[in-house]
Amino acid sequence: MSTSINWQSDDEQVQKNQRRTYDDMRARCPIAHDDKLGYSVFSHADVMHILNNPATFSNHVSDRRIAVPNGMDAPVHTAFRAINDKYFTADRMARFRPIAKELIDSLVSQLPKGQPVDIMAEFAKTYAVKLQNAFMDWGDETEAPLNAWIEKNRKATLSQNQDEIASVALEFDGYIKAILDDKRTKRPDDVTFELMNDVVMLPQGKRVMSDEELVSLIRNWTVGELSTMSSAVGIIFEFFIHHPDVLTHLKANPQDIDNAVLEILRLHDPLITNRRRTTCPVTLHGIDIPKDAKITINWQSANRDPEAFHQADSFELHRSQANNLVYGHGIHVCPGKPLAQLELGLLVECLVEQVSKIRPVSDDYFDHAIYPASGFSRLEVILH
Ligand code: HEM
Repeated sequence: MSTSINWQSDDEQVQKNQRRTYDDMRARCPIAHDDKLGYSVFSHADVMHILNNPATFSNHVSDRRIAVPNGMDAPVHTAFRAINDKYFTADRMARFRPIAKELIDSLVSQLPKGQPVDIMAEFAKTYAVKLQNAFMDWGDETEAPLNAWIEKNRKATLSQNQDEIASVALEFDGYIKAILDDKRTKRPDDVTFELMNDVVMLPQGKRVMSDEELVSLIRNWTVGELSTMSSAVGIIFEFFIHHPDVLTHLKANPQDIDNAVLEILRLHDPLITNRRRTTCPVTLHGIDIPKDAKITINWQSANRDPEAFHQADSFELHRSQANNLVYGHGIHVCPGKPLAQLELGLLVECLVEQVSKIRPVSDDYFDHAIYPASGFSRLEVILH
């Protein structure tokens, strides 16, 4: 049996261009080890193997705090997923569509035209927070504290200081608990109050969720997703700088927008990794991995694997998206996919309607985001 190659996932060279590094790693050593991420898995086939064997590759990666539903395994995961999925049905999406469209229309129309704008600082985060607020039926007053908290969380995550991360997380918990208490008094007809009264069908019996579980689920819907959604926004804008022809095509063919979003995000995945833990010794790609090992699925690399996608590095609007892993696969596949595709599709629809061209402000128009974030931390463009 071979051993995996060691690498340094937080090396400056990796951060300079994560996509290129992961492409390189996949070609050279599809499984690589470092202390921070454990065994990083880069190939599409190995990632699929992991996703199809959730009993061997557990999502229960930490005892530090519960994570509903992402840190759970079946059968408890199944019970919480059943609740989760009720909030992303086609019916709900159809009802949310006009609200989201109006919001996105207004945000895109406020973007300055003919002058420089940093899409990450001045649009992407606001877009993600406002939409999530609208989806949760939270009022405008929650926007400012949520924004401030996201910034603190970003800094704590980058610092890797566990005490700071824990204290920021506690602050978020307190903040959501205050929202829950408020809903308990006012009993509004909204998503949060509905969640609070929903019943989980656990193997040991049915019950409503505890506050700890509610906070965790809401954390998964908001915190986890705000950064992914804002990365996706930057990635989409940047794509159109280099593919004005696709913007023109979508003007005449709006039915292709959904596929275009999937393909853009396949090429540049807004979510880089998720974790697993081995529940027994395994051999993956000829490499022996012990029980309780940390496994890191690298979505960005798997989605660009030439073994899974013909001409993996090129944009093909009409390619089959059956192998696309942007939203994962298997029992933990993203329940928020319908919402994310709706919101990002509407963004493209509004760009198609309101913008004829996106150009970079100069040769130095972007900074790559640093892991665990994807996409860009700065993206300066001029819209016409
Ligand atoms: C472009 C945006 C998004 C991307 C790329 C994305 C991607 C993913 C991926 C790859 C997974 C699988 C994780 C794993 O297997 O460990 C996942 C899980 C999840 N996503 Fe998303 N997501 C997005 C947006 C959203 C949104 C908007 C929501 C909810 C509001 C959401 C909620 C969740 C939840 C709750 C899980 C955990 C599911 C489980 O463990 O059963 N996501 N997402």
